[in-house]
Amino acid sequence: MATTTWAPRNGHIISTNHANSPQPAAETFDRVIVSNRLPVDRVQDDDGGSRWRPSPGGLVAALEPMMRADDGVWVGWPGIADEELEPFEIGGIDLIPVTLSEQEVMEYYEGFSNDTLWPLYHDVIAPPSYRREWWDCYVKVNQRFADTAAAAAAHGAVVWVHDYQLQLVPKMLRDARPDLVIGFFNHIPFPPYGIYSQLPWRRQIVEGLLGADVIGFQRLADAGNFSRAARRLKGYDTRGSIIEVPIDVDDPDAGSHRHVTHNRRGELVRTVLARQFPISIDAQAYQELARRPDIQERARQIRRDLGDPKTIMLGVDRLDYTKGIGHRLQAYGELLAEQRVSPEDVVLVQVASPSRERVETYRQLRDEIELTVGRINGDYSTISHTAISYLHHGYPREEMVALYLAADVMLVTALRDGMNLVAKEYVATRVDNDGVLLLSEFAGASDELRQARLINPHDIEGLKDAMMEALEMPQSERSRRMRALRKRVLTYDVARWSKSFLEALVNTAHGDHAEQKPAGHLTRER
Ligand code: F6P
Repeated sequence: MATTTWAPRNGHIISTNHANSPQPAAETFDRVIVSNRLPVDRVQDDDGGSRWRPSPGGLVAALEPMMRADDGVWVGWPGIADEELEPFEIGGIDLIPVTLSEQEVMEYYEGFSNDTLWPLYHDVIAPPSYRREWWDCYVKVNQRFADTAAAAAAHGAVVWVHDYQLQLVPKMLRDARPDLVIGFFNHIPFPPYGIYSQLPWRRQIVEGLLGADVIGFQRLADAGNFSRAARRLKGYDTRGSIIEVPIDVDDPDAGSHRHVTHNRRGELVRTVLARQFPISIDAQAYQELARRPDIQERARQIRRDLGDPKTIMLGVDRLDYTKGIGHRLQAYGELLAEQRVSPEDVVLVQVASPSRERVETYRQLRDEIELTVGRINGDYSTISHTAISYLHHGYPREEMVALYLAADVMLVTALRDGMNLVAKEYVATRVDNDGVLLLSEFAGASDELRQARLINPHDIEGLKDAMMEALEMPQSERSRRMRALRKRVLTYDVARWSKSFLEALVNTAHGDHAEQKPAGHLTRER
């Protein structure tokens, strides 16, 4: 096992242990973030050594104000198996690493998280695998995260748990520490009951989540699906976005629950808020990059390098079967075959960043996509113009912004997606109020970005027509749509998202949920 020791920050010594019982840490914190991954990447140095650097994800930007204050800490896995690290600080953020063995990475992360929950929660686009040993490992690892967080949390601290990998943590935390204020945010969809009910451990997951004071979802429909699951599986009453969780009066900790009230049958209940909080991006940061002359020059160079086509269409995705990459390739391939477009005029740039490459479904997807790209390029490219420029890499944010600026048409064709932040990034960078966004109605972003050209990716003829419409859309319409989209994305940014979640969390924990409304928008499903 690799062991690395890190200098503690300003004399902070944070001690945790990974055994199954919470141990008090030498230092405790008033705010604790818990997520599967820590916001760090390991980079190799020229001298052969390695170091950690902050990873520039959207969640870090959102939570930075909360984390940089001395009283915040982030609990998570550093992304490498068998890596035993002491707590450390990076870029002003205190981190407490949770160690996962190689076996746990296979069973908890690649197995139960990404081969059971991921396909199940994305409408079973791929068949989920239900393996009992993966579930056992998921329980064990969730307990480790909960113990680590419990040890790091000060009395009455706010603990915010993130995403489907850690759905049991809220209840585990509440059982150990009823004094805590516990929030959970699900970054991916929550499926309709007819699909969710396949899960052999459906009841345990609902119980796990209901340990939280507030459960946040991307869309109104996700929150509704969860409330239905709580009613069906537990028989709990719901009132709008409130779920009433009965309290065992014989439980000695019952009195220490944050907010306890009586329901209409006179039973003692704890109220849980389950509601949509659509996540966003640091729109200002993207906009600033888009205004940089060097990045604008890079965008022009990309167009020249692609042979100066009339139109550049762009797709940017993790290489995941939920993203509908095959559907968009099929639509573009058919437009080429029918000679409605030519590669001299229209090129498609597809960035497909590597993801979960040891999971079989992802390996198969890569083979399928690369076969399709090869066929289309073989059939339609010319010496001077390649129909599809396919890039199996991740890129730094600056390069992504240059690509967004170069792209006349952005293709987001997800078959199911919690939100899809790429759609919001594209909009934030279009400081010229130009460019057309084709957006799947199955992506959470479509609830907010109504002025995009919405598409159903399963309807290939419809998708082809939408692509043609985008290629031919008059400048005045492009500009009208983009202005409206930009207003939305710049107003409802990620800072607003985290603020509204934390406000709802504190209010709910203090029993003050009656006045809470979704942040000025999206009160009904559209
Ligand atoms: O939002 C879904 C999610 O799984 C996040 O939890 C994660 O940060 C991202 O997608 C990338 O996935 P992974 O950590 O499996 O590479």
